[in-house]
Amino acid sequence: MKLFNGMTVKNNELHVSDVSVTELKKNYRSPLYVYDENFIENTCEIFLKNFSSSKFNTKILYASKAFSCLEIYRIVSKLGLGLDVVSIGEIFTAKNASFDMSKLYFHGNNKTYRELEFAVENGVENIIIDNDYEHEIINDLAKKYNKKIDVLLRINTGIDAHTHEYIKTAKDDSKFGYSIYDDKIYSLIRDIANQSNLNFKGFHSHIGSQIFEKNSFFDAVKTVFEFSKSVEDKLNIFISVLNLGGGFGVYYSKEDNPFSLAEFLQEYILVIEEQQEIFGLKLESVIIEPGRSLICNAGSTLYTVGGTKKTYSGKEYIFVDGGMGDNPRYALYKAKYECCLANKVNDKCGNLYTVAGKYCESGDILINEIKLPKAEKDDLLLVSSTGAYNYSMASNYNRITKLPVVFVKNGKHRLVVKGESLEDLIKNDI
Ligand SMILES: Cc1ncc(COP(=O)(O)O)c(C=O)c1O
Repeated sequence: MKLFNGMTVKNNELHVSDVSVTELKKNYRSPLYVYDENFIENTCEIFLKNFSSSKFNTKILYASKAFSCLEIYRIVSKLGLGLDVVSIGEIFTAKNASFDMSKLYFHGNNKTYRELEFAVENGVENIIIDNDYEHEIINDLAKKYNKKIDVLLRINTGIDAHTHEYIKTAKDDSKFGYSIYDDKIYSLIRDIANQSNLNFKGFHSHIGSQIFEKNSFFDAVKTVFEFSKSVEDKLNIFISVLNLGGGFGVYYSKEDNPFSLAEFLQEYILVIEEQQEIFGLKLESVIIEPGRSLICNAGSTLYTVGGTKKTYSGKEYIFVDGGMGDNPRYALYKAKYECCLANKVNDKCGNLYTVAGKYCESGDILINEIKLPKAEKDDLLLVSSTGAYNYSMASNYNRITKLPVVFVKNGKHRLVVKGESLEDLIKNDI
């Protein structure tokens, strides 16, 4: 398993920010999500430092669907980031974390009336319109609450990002956004710009997730600028804000070859500045929305081994005390992960195992075939890079309680989300 910054091995045992896995299990429970707080802060700093320009303002929004809870909102808020939110639940969480609500950007292809009203009532000032019926509802709500709302239109650039089908978002048949190749888009933009309580600011584009090809991002930028210019020319409407989404790929396993984030962000800025020069847009700000790349490698999941089983056909399983309920991504996309036996990190990896969970599904696999040292009952198994889209996608399948979340930093650890209790499982049952 690749050891990320902050992971060390002492006496053959894995430590995360100087806290040993044994100490984590002793103080909390297994399974457990563990996040390295220094890692999160450093990654935020990389974004803030490298995505900046003297030609326009830049904003980094944390795409909080990747991992949302009060404490992560407090941390990114303290560092000066904004938030990409997609539901009333994320807005409610941000409000309770005392997030500056004017720094929230509300996305979604089907925001409900209740969600939009909650957003407007609670001071969300930026909404990304995703279809042709939303602007009237938002305008009415803005009038009702005597507000002006800044809006962007989510556009679909048709850029084919080379990533998993389920996480591409700019294909022509995607449910997200409005195609720039559909001529109706111009009348839609005019209608939005004519609404009395909306300030039409520009466009949002997000081409997908876990993308490794820089050119996909650069091509999207060029397309967004070209389209923006055509809107300015055709409609005489100024485009002052461009939100270019997230999607920057990260390392999960040896198959992934992510670019250096700092270098990429600097190149990205240059491409944007160049396009601004070519098309002469008077940009107020350019926004990006990293989710996975900001949080994924900071998080790991710690499990305890129950036992091993060799099947009649010769496949050898390690069974752990979690599985698809805390990490559904193998079941969803055959996502690949790495792991180690965290109490015997440097032992020889001589056994080929498949790591399976405890859920009643044959598809409840965490890692299909990985070489590890011989596993025994009560060994600790740590799966790395589970910081994004694990906790936030977790379920109570099989009525198994959701895991606690612990943050570690420089030898200290603290609980930031309690694990669910059995009572929690029935608290809404009548
Ligand atoms: C609109 C939007 N912005 C940002 C993101 C974050 O993407 P990622 O986690 O790949 O950075 C997503 C993810 O689906 C998204 O839909």
